[in-house]
Amino acid sequence: MADPFALGVAFEQAQDPDDRTRRGAWFTPAPVARLLVDRALAAWAGSRPPRVVLDPSVGGGAFLLAAHERLPDARLVGIDIDAGAVAVTREALARAGATDVALVHGDGLDPSSCPEEVDLVVGNPPFLSQLRAATTRGEDRRARLRGWYGEAAEGYVDEAGLFVLAVSRLLAPDGVAVLVVPEALLATESAGRVREEVSTHCAVDVVWRDTEGAFPGVPTCALQLRRQGPGWTGPPGSPGSGTASWASLLADDVPAVVDPVVGATRTVGDVATATADFREAYYLVAEHVREARPGHDDPRLTPVGLIDPAHHRWGAAAVRFAKQRWDRPVAVGLPPAFLAARLGTKLLVATQTKVLEALVDTEGDMLPTTPAITVRTDRPWHVGAALTSPLLTALAARRHAGAARTRTALKLSAAQVLALPLPADGPAWDDAADAFRAAHGASAVADRTQLLRRCGESMWSAFDLEADPVASGWWAQRLPRR
Ligand SMILES: C[S@@+](CC[C@H](N)C(=O)[O-])C[C@H]1O[C@@H](n2cnc3c(N)ncnc32)[C@H](O)[C@@H]1O
Repeated sequence: MADPFALGVAFEQAQDPDDRTRRGAWFTPAPVARLLVDRALAAWAGSRPPRVVLDPSVGGGAFLLAAHERLPDARLVGIDIDAGAVAVTREALARAGATDVALVHGDGLDPSSCPEEVDLVVGNPPFLSQLRAATTRGEDRRARLRGWYGEAAEGYVDEAGLFVLAVSRLLAPDGVAVLVVPEALLATESAGRVREEVSTHCAVDVVWRDTEGAFPGVPTCALQLRRQGPGWTGPPGSPGSGTASWASLLADDVPAVVDPVVGATRTVGDVATATADFREAYYLVAEHVREARPGHDDPRLTPVGLIDPAHHRWGAAAVRFAKQRWDRPVAVGLPPAFLAARLGTKLLVATQTKVLEALVDTEGDMLPTTPAITVRTDRPWHVGAALTSPLLTALAARRHAGAARTRTALKLSAAQVLALPLPADGPAWDDAADAFRAAHGASAVADRTQLLRRCGESMWSAFDLEADPVASGWWAQRLPRR
């Protein structure tokens, strides 16, 4: 008899690519499905074997097939929006000898699609990023999802996040779910309400990370939910972020630092404002970029690639912007109001970087482009010194790991920068600010690094903490070397 898993593989390969993108149809290889079913069973603490197993977006049935291998007596429930996928799964499960099977051609997010409580959920829901045009939902669907999931469905939360929420509501007492999700779900603000609600009734863990490229293109992990009883109060949310962050579950290589927010007198938001531009600004700026002429006084374009800690690389390094390479990019002819809102003395913070990278624009002529964050404060050297410290990079990595495009990078929103802690005033913080300022004037990389290290050391004392050599070493390793 043919391998039942092969039916799904053949079905996936035969699909129209656009259609596949629209439905997020990337099936799970059999070894990964088997591994994740085993993880779910390892977490099961019920007094009897699980009776009902669900995959709410069943595809070619890989997870239900793997579940049947381990639990031949369980009832297998599968849902898929694609009638073809349902037919393939039906055939595959029949070939595998499963008899107690309920397959639904429908929407896995519609609570009426699965009327029974389930013991085990395994699956790989469609991701469907709402920041990509091809997978953005229309108004009708938006309204339907709001009806089912309330505020959690507002904004840019992707479909995978809503599947996690849906599944958490379906789990029976003691129930366990293991779902493949984009790592960004653990950290992005758009999924904050999903995380908050799920954390009220489930313990959450990461039980697998895709380090072998089973799902190319998007950093992916398997999230495990364990339904908790009525006494469960949930883990504390990440302080200051305003949402329950699960990012620390991914931050296994980040040193555990003391979170000084508990004792901190204030956050960056108490002494500064922070803004980041939308994509629209990027397109507008792209129409006005030119190479600088000698003696120019135009604003110097500053994409994040030109921001290093205490160092502006403009003129010293070429940069790509709007699909072109630029040596000395300036913006010419932008509307005065647009410029007025963006120029002037400020602190610029790069994101999608390995450490928090901040520099002070003393001339006020740097024009940042998305995703750089502009921080305005009358104490830029002090705030910059704090942001540049190993402590705040480690803290940001633990709070927000997973949000960036690559695994080792950090990506913070303006609001998340504002939620980072600041210490009380004192000589240690002043010393860090002096070192940070001096680093801006260093012409040799070694001198700059030396000053940045001094800044970092002083920041430990400023926060009233013992210097942490492990965190400092980890941070120094991640500093740009140029
Ligand atoms: C990432 S694939 C995974 C399939 C299968 N669970 C696996 O791991 O091999 C996602 C599946 O979800 C289906 N799908 C997309 N939107 C859905 C929805 N709202 N409800 C149910 N299924 C959906 C797609 O048709 C596709 O088969």
